[in-house]
Amino acid sequence: MTIPLIDADMKFLKAGSLPDLMSLQSIIAANLPCPEIFMLHEEKFFQEILRLERSVIGVTAEEELIAFSIIRIPGLADDSLGKDLNMREEELIKVAHLQAAAVHPAYRGNGLQRKLTSAHLRVIEDMGYEHVCCTVSPKNPVSLANYLSCGLMIEGLRPKMQGWWRFILHKNILHPNFADMERPVDINEIKIQISDIEGQLDLVKRGFKGFKITFLPDGAEVFYA
Ligand SMILES: CC(C)(COP(=O)(O)OP(=O)(O)OC[C@H]1O[C@@H](n2cnc3c(N)ncnc32)[C@H](O)[C@@H]1OP(=O)(O)O)[C@@H](O)C(=O)NCCC(=O)NCCS
Repeated sequence: MTIPLIDADMKFLKAGSLPDLMSLQSIIAANLPCPEIFMLHEEKFFQEILRLERSVIGVTAEEELIAFSIIRIPGLADDSLGKDLNMREEELIKVAHLQAAAVHPAYRGNGLQRKLTSAHLRVIEDMGYEHVCCTVSPKNPVSLANYLSCGLMIEGLRPKMQGWWRFILHKNILHPNFADMERPVDINEIKIQISDIEGQLDLVKRGFKGFKITFLPDGAEVFYA
């Protein structure tokens, strides 16, 4: 059951929050339906990212960290998601990753991932980056719904770390795509089961972008255009 958020505090986290982040990640890991949907990070990663200004936003309720969002600037690193989307070097340096987000199981359903993502999108824009990218597992429709609702779109699909399938999502903050605007009526729209990897690979290869998800009793459908 969701604990309603009456008094929560959202703020940038600093080095002192390392133990809280580690223990929240352990709770999240212990509650995953399958390990594939959420890539866990090492303590060293948290340590380094906490040193970078505005990279980690946390939500605290009743003096406990209950949610976080992390951004990372990959530059020209091999793991830049811009490379998965075939960006050229002059675009790669404008890429920011929504690297990770998670909410304590007891507090899910309060829209915290969306709120944290919106806050971090404003930070990324303020920092002067143009492209926002992230990955989501096709087995994680709730997270996909949240990122799509923030204007990111599915532009890639491929096996990433450990060979786990990931959608590659992208949003150009300076030049919004049609998800952010009123869509033309004659647009070619196709809906497909989120579990249909082959079908979505074909759509992405043909230049379709995933922009919406609807939940069904037995799964979810993604809309491409
Ligand atoms: C993905 C995640 C961050 C979403 O949390 P959230 O922001 O609280 O989710 P929302 O408020 O958007 O929830 C929307 C609905 O989905 C439900 N929901 C949220 N997370 C869920 C989950 N993991 N499994 C099933 N249902 C979930 C909520 O209860 C809510 O239902 P309701 O509309 O009936 O109230 C959270 O599930 C999580 O931390 N998961 C594990 C880590 C993870 O997957 N991170 C994202 C990696 S890309």
